[in-house]
Amino acid sequence: MAGQYYIETYGCQMNLADSQLVAGLLNDSGFARTDDMAAAQIILLNTCAIREKAEETVLNRLDALAHLKRKDPSVLIGVLGCMAQNLADSLLESHPFVDIILGPDSYRRLPQMLAQRTQEMDHIVDTRLSRHEVYEDLFPARETGLNAWISIMRGCDKFCTFCVVPYTRGRERSRSLESVVAEAAQAVADGFVEMTLLGQNVNSYHHEGSRFPQLLEAVAGVDGVRRIRFTSPHPSDVDADMLRVMAAQENICSSVHLPLQAGADRTLRRMQRTYTRAEYLKLVDRIRAALPDVGLTTDIIVGFPGETEADFEETLEVMEQVRFDSAFMFKYSLRPGTKAANYSSHVDEQEKQRRLEAVIAMQKESTLMRNRALTGQVAEVLVERESKKSPLQWAGRTDSNKLVVFDREDALLGDFVQVKIDGSHGVTLQGHIVNTVESYHAVA
Ligand code: 5AD
Ligand code: SF4
Repeated sequence: MAGQYYIETYGCQMNLADSQLVAGLLNDSGFARTDDMAAAQIILLNTCAIREKAEETVLNRLDALAHLKRKDPSVLIGVLGCMAQNLADSLLESHPFVDIILGPDSYRRLPQMLAQRTQEMDHIVDTRLSRHEVYEDLFPARETGLNAWISIMRGCDKFCTFCVVPYTRGRERSRSLESVVAEAAQAVADGFVEMTLLGQNVNSYHHEGSRFPQLLEAVAGVDGVRRIRFTSPHPSDVDADMLRVMAAQENICSSVHLPLQAGADRTLRRMQRTYTRAEYLKLVDRIRAALPDVGLTTDIIVGFPGETEADFEETLEVMEQVRFDSAFMFKYSLRPGTKAANYSSHVDEQEKQRRLEAVIAMQKESTLMRNRALTGQVAEVLVERESKKSPLQWAGRTDSNKLVVFDREDALLGDFVQVKIDGSHGVTLQGHIVNTVESYHAVA
C-alpha cells in the first residue's frame, strides 16, 4: 500500500528531526507527503510528553480527528513519539480509533506497519525501547531551508527527578562521528548552511573514543558549513575542551543553552541535577571567559515539589546574577512514573503561577538589558525568513542566537549581512544592514 501521509509535530527540535526521519523512511517506501490533512490517507502526530499541557494539546487534537475516521474508516491515524511511549495502552482506551502507536525507537517498522494495518484490523502498538537504535543509516527528508537539524545522540541517562525523557526515549546512545560528518556534508550539498546538532544531552555524545568536542571540530571542518549550533547540553558535561573548540572554530556559534532549572542547592539536589549553585555560576564565568560575546540562555522550572519561598528566591538571585539573554520558563508539571511525582509538598497551582510570573518579569528585565548593551554594535546575521510584522523586513539571528529584524534592502534569504543594531521593540532587536558579507545567490 502507498498513499499520501500528513505529519504534525509537537514538542522539541528532536521531534522535528524525527519527523524528517520518518518522512525519509516513508518517501523511500513509496508514500508521498502532503501538507493538506484532508487529502491524506495516513495522519501521523509526532508527540511530546514533557509536561501535562503538551499531552493535553495532543489529546485534544486527537479528539478533533475522530470525525475524519468516522467519515472515512480507511484513514489511518498514528501516534508517534514520546506520548506514544508514555501512554501506549491508556491512549488506546481513551482514543480507540487510533490505529498505530509507535515509540521513538520503532520508526523503522512504520512502512511495514502501515501495510499490515490495512490488511488486519488489530491496532498496532510498538513501544519497545532500544539500547542501540540511532537511525544512523537513514537520511532525513528535510524541507528546504537554511538550518539542518542533525540528531547526533538519543536518549538520556541523567534521570533528573522531574523528567519523563529517560523513560520515553530510553538510554543514551550516539551515532558514529563519520555518519554525522557525512550527513553534514550532504546537508551542505542540499543547500543548508547552518547545522544544529541535536540530542537530549547533546554534549554527553560519545562514540568509540570520540567525544563531543571532537565531533564539533569534525563538523566545523566540513566545507560549506557556515554555522554550527547545538542543543541541549547539560551543565555537568561542559568541559574545557568543548569551550576550547568553540573558541577556536569560527563557524561554531557563540551561544550556549545552559539549563539551570533552579537556583537553590536544596532544589538542585532533589532534582538530581548533579551541580550546585556555586558550580553553575563558576561554569558561567568560565564560558564567558572563553567566549566573550556568548549568548547564554536557560530553562527554569518553578514550583518543584518542596520548593519553599526562600528556595525560589534563590532562582531569582541566580537569574539576576547571570542575566541570561533569554529563558524558557515552566511551572513544574507532575509526570507520573518520575521520582519527583512521589515527593511530598507539591506547590499549589496559584503559587506556581505567581512564581512563574516573577521569573518572567525578571527575565524580561535581563533581555532588555542585554539588548540595550548591543545597541550601536554591528553583528553578522544570517537572513533566515521574512519578519512576522512586515513583508518589507527580514528576520535572522546573530552568531549569539539573537533574533534581529531589519529592512530588506537588496539582501536575499541565505545571505550573511552585517547589521547595525539600532535598538529593540519589546524583546526583538531592530537594526539596519550596513554591509553584505556573503551572498550565495550572487555566486550561484
Ligand atoms: N515540568 C516542568 N518542566 C519540565 N521540563 C522537563 N520536565 C519538566 C516537568 N516535569 C523542562 C526542563 C527542561 C525542558 C526541556 O523542559 O526545564 O530543561
Ligand atoms: Fe530530562 Fe534531565 Fe535528561 Fe534533560 S538531562 S532530558 S531534563 S532527565
